[in-house]
Amino acid sequence: MNNFIYDIPTKVYFGENQLGNLGPELAKFGKRVLLTYGGGSIKKMGLYDKVVAEIKKAGLQLFELSGIEPNPRIDSVRAGAEICKKEHIDVLLAVGGGSTIDATKFMAAGALVDFDPWDFFSEKWAPLTDALPIVSILTLAATGSEMDAGGVISNPKTKDKIGRVERPMLPRVSFLDPTNTYTVSPYQTACGASDMLSHICEVYFNMSTDLYMLDTVMEGLMKSIIKYAPVAMKEPDNYEARANLMWASSWAINGFIDGGKRQAWSCHPIEHELSAIYDITHGLGLAIITPRWMKYCLSEATVSKYVQFGVNVFDIDKSLPAMEIATKAIDMFADFLFKTLGLKSTLSAVGIDDTHFEVMAEKAAGIGGTKYGFVPLAPKDISEILKMSL
Ligand code: NZQ
Ligand code: ZN
Repeated sequence: MNNFIYDIPTKVYFGENQLGNLGPELAKFGKRVLLTYGGGSIKKMGLYDKVVAEIKKAGLQLFELSGIEPNPRIDSVRAGAEICKKEHIDVLLAVGGGSTIDATKFMAAGALVDFDPWDFFSEKWAPLTDALPIVSILTLAATGSEMDAGGVISNPKTKDKIGRVERPMLPRVSFLDPTNTYTVSPYQTACGASDMLSHICEVYFNMSTDLYMLDTVMEGLMKSIIKYAPVAMKEPDNYEARANLMWASSWAINGFIDGGKRQAWSCHPIEHELSAIYDITHGLGLAIITPRWMKYCLSEATVSKYVQFGVNVFDIDKSLPAMEIATKAIDMFADFLFKTLGLKSTLSAVGIDDTHFEVMAEKAAGIGGTKYGFVPLAPKDISEILKMSL
């Protein structure tokens, strides 16, 4: 196992009836709170009223920014950073899914610099050394943004979607109440499950052989998602299913499972190009790409990892020939995504053709650094994976 530093400062309030802690937690950072949220789901589910009541009870001053889009856009970040500067905001409270939390992270950092947010975040010459404190209330189990330092932001004008992973953007406190995900649609629940699985696969598919403990944790996380996502889709208010998915979403990406692994991600850079151009749901794009990536990377050199995956996650008979186990494992993974979760299985099915494949492949390889992935991917390899996904 390689050396690593694990240091996550996010305090998590997990479970029901913890919102009474919100006011006191926010008050630790100051009096002026910017509440951020998306297109209105938090109002429909009654969470908005509860949050506002807690903020008022704590005697804090409330400012608001709503309308943060799925695949959040830089204009929302600009608006939020502007409010922070003008109103001397002390702390940002993001209530929503990954899009709201991500955009809020960029607002919190953008508030402390004099650059235009897009210039600042897309040009890595300017180090991101500080951000206003962020508190989150998660309403969709998927991205893990509630407990990681990452954020992804889109610029519809340039058709770019860029990510930054910066320690100051880590939420200081996150409220994870599974009942806040009861209203998530079956489709978004499926996309969330696909996203979490992909986060784990990006790390799990690695040829290191000395990470038994981490591999076992990842297999447990994947089995939990495979077990509970279909339950949550059928029974939206099944607490056990929602709770297991919610905690899995955080642990799939909070840095724990990749302790010691040094490897760039592969499917995410490709998917980010898809959602940058076509604005598709992140988890859906990953569902289409990930099994094709697995197929593309399978060889005599990598087959042992697939065997481990097939035997430990899908209970495939370990006495079968290695290649047979590997292909069966990929098929079972794809069946889970497309048959059990009901996600669309091809790019054509979501209206995407090969028009932009070359540009996407170049960008994914360049920005995403896919040549340092599980199997090194050059633009031509990415084009091939995209073609396999048509
Ligand atoms: O906008 P509202 O009204 O809130 O509706 C949202 C949105 O339409 C809805 N929703 C959320 N919670 C709900 C709900 N509807 C009913 N009940 C609830 N409780 O769901 C829709 C999707 O929400 P969104 O936040 O976009 O989904 P998700 O959490 O999947 O976030 C996706 C974004 O996160 C990025 C993705 O690229 C994408 O931009 N990612 C962030 C990562 C990170 N921070 O580390 C890593 C990921 O790999 C990913 O790239
Ligand atoms: Zn993801």
